[in-house]
Amino acid sequence: MVGSKPIVTFENNGFCMTERPDPCGLVIFGASGDLTSRKLIPAIYQLFNKKFMGSHFYIIGCARTELSTDEFRKKIESALMELNYEPVHIHEFLTHCFYTAGDYHSPDLYKRLKKEIKELNQTFQCRQNVLFYMATPPYLYVPITEGLTKEKLPRETIENRGFRRFVYEKPYGRDLESAIQLDRDLNTFLSEHQIYRIDHYLGKETVQNILMFRFANSIVEPVWNHHYIDHVQITVAESLGVGHRAGYYDQSGQLRDMFQNHMLQLLSLIAIEQPSTFAADQVRDEKVKVLRAIEPFVPCNSQYPCIIRGQYQAGKINGEMVSAYLDEKGTESASQTESYLAARVYINNWRWKEVPFYLRTGKRLKSKVTQIAIVFKSVPHSMFYPLKESDLANNILLLNVQPDEGISLKMQAKMPGTKICMTSVKMEFNYRDILGGKVPEPYERLLLDCMIGDQTLFWRYDGVELAWQLVTPVIDWWKTNPEECPLFYYPAGSQGPIEAENLLKLEGRQWLPI
Ligand code: BG6
Repeated sequence: MVGSKPIVTFENNGFCMTERPDPCGLVIFGASGDLTSRKLIPAIYQLFNKKFMGSHFYIIGCARTELSTDEFRKKIESALMELNYEPVHIHEFLTHCFYTAGDYHSPDLYKRLKKEIKELNQTFQCRQNVLFYMATPPYLYVPITEGLTKEKLPRETIENRGFRRFVYEKPYGRDLESAIQLDRDLNTFLSEHQIYRIDHYLGKETVQNILMFRFANSIVEPVWNHHYIDHVQITVAESLGVGHRAGYYDQSGQLRDMFQNHMLQLLSLIAIEQPSTFAADQVRDEKVKVLRAIEPFVPCNSQYPCIIRGQYQAGKINGEMVSAYLDEKGTESASQTESYLAARVYINNWRWKEVPFYLRTGKRLKSKVTQIAIVFKSVPHSMFYPLKESDLANNILLLNVQPDEGISLKMQAKMPGTKICMTSVKMEFNYRDILGGKVPEPYERLLLDCMIGDQTLFWRYDGVELAWQLVTPVIDWWKTNPEECPLFYYPAGSQGPIEAENLLKLEGRQWLPI
């Protein structure tokens, strides 16, 4: 039950594989929240504007807040205007939007939804295809799915011949046990092919490009292994603090919020073996193999740590003083929640034998940057006597995920002139140069894939569980041995705790500056 087959066209000097979704309705739970107005609706609007959606679609926003359809439409309109979207088609788009208020625990809501879906499916000729999007807090995932099931809404039967897909936002569980339980619960109502576990990092253009870069270029693969690569650094740094999400974040921390999902996804794409086709399960099989091959973290070891956690204190970012984590509204007064994490990861397979992957992620760091640095080994012999091998800087391939989306390669080159001078130069390409500054939002790609029925960019249950299997022991040690696994502090606006430098220093390496 997937959409049409991809049409291959040649546009802007490149091959494009375009798939159009079948007509469908979208029911968004948590429709009065931030995610819906800031990300989901704008993404759907863009798909509509770019003519991916045609006119056979509808959106039902659903939440506890009492709103009329008119009020919901006004809210959508102002959200789109605020984001400076071209207003040309907004009015037409709004005629496809509806709102239903209700209590997620009340059977009445699902009865009303069923009736509405039936009517709108007819009005907009959506062939019974419905996408249910959970933009709610995770504790509502099971009650909502159960409520829909009681009304038989997930059923994809021969007589309705439509798809019924369910999208779940992270966090998908809080640890291994709760993630397994959530899967068990959802599996009593749904089949795996109906479940889309979203990770918005996978919708970022430059993240999607990792597989293209690795497997559509014949010069990359031969050097992508332990023979040539010294180590890999993956950085996801933010200058923002926890802001108005402190209540949620304080119960979660950087390990659960960023590492267990986004960071491990980036790692698995960098380390993946080549799938034989770009089919969802083949790609996900290979990613799961990477997660399975990660060496488990060893308990806290102050001499040779493999994970460092930190928390920000007051400091200056862009010349402005910002408060300490503990002073954020919503954090507990003596909270030990980490806002920073750095880890050394080994992947136990032939390709990556003894290649360390250094991962770091934190809030209130110097700047917002997400990048992956592939640091190559130095040359085996220097012919430029008296320069030694170690005097020649390593080649570094930098995959910039954000904000300056692009790729660069640091090389050694001769400086022009009569003297023999060597310097590092950069070969680079920037997405802005080819896309005119407009990199599509991740939710556009991901929502389109949900409608098409392509699960390649979504977590599969086994991946989620393996990721939790890796990090759950760490959560447990931190809880039971806080003295042995101390929380280090760093000033806001810095590169993170000094102690995180030891992860690399002990091995004669250093972090690239943020
Ligand atoms: C979310 C986290 O998944 O990703 C947030 O919950 C984080 O804490 C955000 O700020 C970062 O996303 P992006 O796309 O801005 O890098």
